[in-house]
Amino acid sequence: MQWRTMCVGWKRLILFLPAVIIVHHMLSVSEFQKQTDLGDLHNERRVKFDHLVLGPAAGEGLPDRLHCQGTKALNKTRVGSLTNNPSSGEHVAFVSMFTAYNSAADGLFSGRPSDLVTVGKTSYNKVERSIAVLNVFINFIQVSMPRSNIFILTDPASELRLHRDMVTIQPIQGEYSRDKLMLQRIRSYIGFLEIRLEKMTQRREQVSHFIFTDSDMAVVNDLGHIFTDYPTFDLALTFRNNHDQPLNSGFIAVRGTAEGIRRGVAFLREVLEVYSSKYMKASRMLGDQLALSWVVRSDPKFNERRFSKREAFVVKIGDASVLFLPCSSYNWTPPEGAGQFHGMPLDVKVVHFKGSRKRLMLEAWNFWSSHSDMSDMLCLILRSGRTKYDF
Ligand SMILES: *[C@@H]1O[C@H](CO)[C@@H](O)[C@H](O)[C@H]1NC(C)=O
Repeated sequence: MQWRTMCVGWKRLILFLPAVIIVHHMLSVSEFQKQTDLGDLHNERRVKFDHLVLGPAAGEGLPDRLHCQGTKALNKTRVGSLTNNPSSGEHVAFVSMFTAYNSAADGLFSGRPSDLVTVGKTSYNKVERSIAVLNVFINFIQVSMPRSNIFILTDPASELRLHRDMVTIQPIQGEYSRDKLMLQRIRSYIGFLEIRLEKMTQRREQVSHFIFTDSDMAVVNDLGHIFTDYPTFDLALTFRNNHDQPLNSGFIAVRGTAEGIRRGVAFLREVLEVYSSKYMKASRMLGDQLALSWVVRSDPKFNERRFSKREAFVVKIGDASVLFLPCSSYNWTPPEGAGQFHGMPLDVKVVHFKGSRKRLMLEAWNFWSSHSDMSDMLCLILRSGRTKYDF
């Protein structure tokens, strides 16, 4: 009897499998609008989707969080954006380091169908994918902060070409191997700031502040106000309530005055030194964040408990005045966004598409292009960001 039941169970499973495959295929060819609500699917961690999957919108019932009906936003997130008041903003430039590994292997296999992903009507191989992410990064800045210049720091050997308005490719000599990438990034930031400082002293240029970010981020609101709202800081970092890694290195702002740049450089030099001496063995993606936290925590005046509130604060670390901005608004990330942050605050300014969420970044841009509504697009991100995607 027992054996019989088991046997029936297996038969059912075998019958069920093709159904799963067919359903999956139907979903991947379906239009975005017809997509299903598969609320619990994100629990199956091994499954990575090649199409958007919408789950519940976290933060429901909290008055200062974005509420959504489907992908329709019930609150507006853009309060007093720069577009309404273009003269008030400070000049801000964005800086991002970019490397695409155009290795022999990538080139060799890039034509294979299995290495291609399709978003909207476009298919991408591995290198094309990272260029697409970079282009969307630029697109979002040009929508949210259209007067901002963008600098892309690259390996001189990579011969990156991008023909976009307001974008400058700035090659910086260094060691760009995968395992040293985060170390190189700090070096490149320092190198870039020193070049700017030199240019500043040569001729009087308009002061431009700098925001160094990962390129898998979407700037969805104006950021220029931080330089006027907090007029004393030299350098800004984003924090979250996470004991082991309270600081994320994906967003670092530096005031563009000579003093600001000098103090910013000195701070980054210290981070670099701590990284090289203490964290070279850390996983290649984490060393810079661990070093950042170490430098901040090593200051005896620093009060760790300030990380537990979602409020910006300014503290002097060494010679630099450092502004700490909450990740929940300035570095909001979908997986934590629905968990630790309990939804999406209405004043969200930067969304960080960490891990396997680069597809979502491209899908979000496509959605914005056809709907022209940032708040609705944020609903899409809030509801689909807990899913892991194929890239
Ligand atoms: C956002 O919308 C929800 C749902 O309509 C509402 O309950 C909440 O009060 C709104 N929040 C704000 C700040 O307007």
